Amino acid sequence: MSALDLRKLAGQTAVVTGAASGIGAAVARRAAALRMRVVLVDRDREPLHRTASDLTGTGAVVHPVVCDVRDAAAVDRLADTVCREFGFVRLFVGNAGVESTGRLWELPPDRFDQVLGVNVAGVFHGIRAFVPRLLESATPDREAIVVTVASIGSVTTMPAQAAYVASKHAALALTECLALELAQERKPVRVAAFLPGPVHTGIYDSAAADGAAGTELRDRMRGFLAERGVTAEAAAEALFTGIAAGDFWIFTDRDRAAELLRTRAERLVDAARSRADTGSGDTSSTQERRSGLVG
Ligand SMILES: NC(=O)c1ccc[n+]([C@@H]2O[C@H](COP(=O)([O-])OP(=O)(O)OC[C@H]3O[C@@H](n4cnc5c(N)ncnc54)[C@H](O)[C@@H]3O)[C@@H](O)[C@H]2O)c1
Repeated sequence: MSALDLRKLAGQTAVVTGAASGIGAAVARRAAALRMRVVLVDRDREPLHRTASDLTGTGAVVHPVVCDVRDAAAVDRLADTVCREFGFVRLFVGNAGVESTGRLWELPPDRFDQVLGVNVAGVFHGIRAFVPRLLESATPDREAIVVTVASIGSVTTMPAQAAYVASKHAALALTECLALELAQERKPVRVAAFLPGPVHTGIYDSAAADGAAGTELRDRMRGFLAERGVTAEAAAEALFTGIAAGDFWIFTDRDRAAELLRTRAERLVDAARSRADTGSGDTSSTQERRSGLVG
C-alpha cells in the first residue's frame, strides 16, 4: 500500500465497530483528533453513548449507532444509512470482538458460536456490507481503507483460548484474502490487518470463562493486560502510524511479533523438511513435532 498523509483524512468519514470501549474507543478518539467524522458502532447502548458524548464534548463530530455485528441485516442497514447520510466512507475499522477462555472440550456450543459470530462473521458482515460501496465511491486520490482488528493471536496458538485464537486466525485469513481479491480488482480500496499484542482494556472483564482452566486463564490474563499491556491510546497510535506508512500487517509490538512468527515458521519448515528428509511418520518424529508445538 502507498503512504498516506493522515491530515488528508480531515472532514472524511470513519466507521469503527466496537467503539464503545477499549481499542475501538481509542481509534475513534484518534480519528476524531484527525478531524474525521466518526460513526461509532457498538452493541452496548449505554457505554456507546457515553463514549460518543465524551467525544462530542471535545468538539468532535460523532454519530453513535447501536448495532450487533453478528446481525447481517443490521450491518447492511448501518452501511445503507452511513453511505446515504455521509456519502463516502474513507476508513472502516472492523474492531468489535469478544474473548473467551476454556478448554475446547469444556466450551458450550453456543459459546463457540458466539465468539466465531462476533470475531469472524462480524468481520465478514462489515466487509460484505461496506466494500461494494467503497468500490463504487473510492478514487485513486481518495483511497478507501478497510482495517480488520485481528490479534497477535492470529499467528500463534494457546491452550484454553482456542475459540478466540481460531476466530482471530480466521479474521486474519479473511483479511488477507480480501487484500488479494481487491488487488485483482485494481480498485483504490486498500486493506490492513491490525495485530495488537496485549492492550490494557476490559476485554477479559466481559470474557466468558468455562471450566477451571478457563477461569484461571481469564483471571491471569486480566492481570497480565493490566501489568504488561500497552494503553488503548498507544494501540490506536500504532494503527494510524501503520495506515500512514501504507502497511498491510500492523503490530503494536514488532519485536515480539517477529519472535513468535519466526518460531512458528521455523517449526513448520523444520517439520516439513524432516518429513521430506525421512519420508516416515514414525512415533518418535510425531513426538518431536508435538514437543515442538508446545515448547
Ligand atoms: N486487548 C487486547 O489485548 C487485544 C489484543 C489483540 C486484539 N484485540 C482485539 O481488539 C478488539 C477490541 O478489543 P478490546 O480489547 O478493545 O476489548 P473491549 O471489550 O474493550 O472492546 C470490545 C468492544 O466490542 C464491542 N462488541 C462486542 N461484541 C459486539 C457485537 N456483537 N457487535 C458490536 N459490538 C460488539 C463491545 O461492546 C466492546 O465495546 C477485539 O477485536 C479484540 O479481539 C485486543
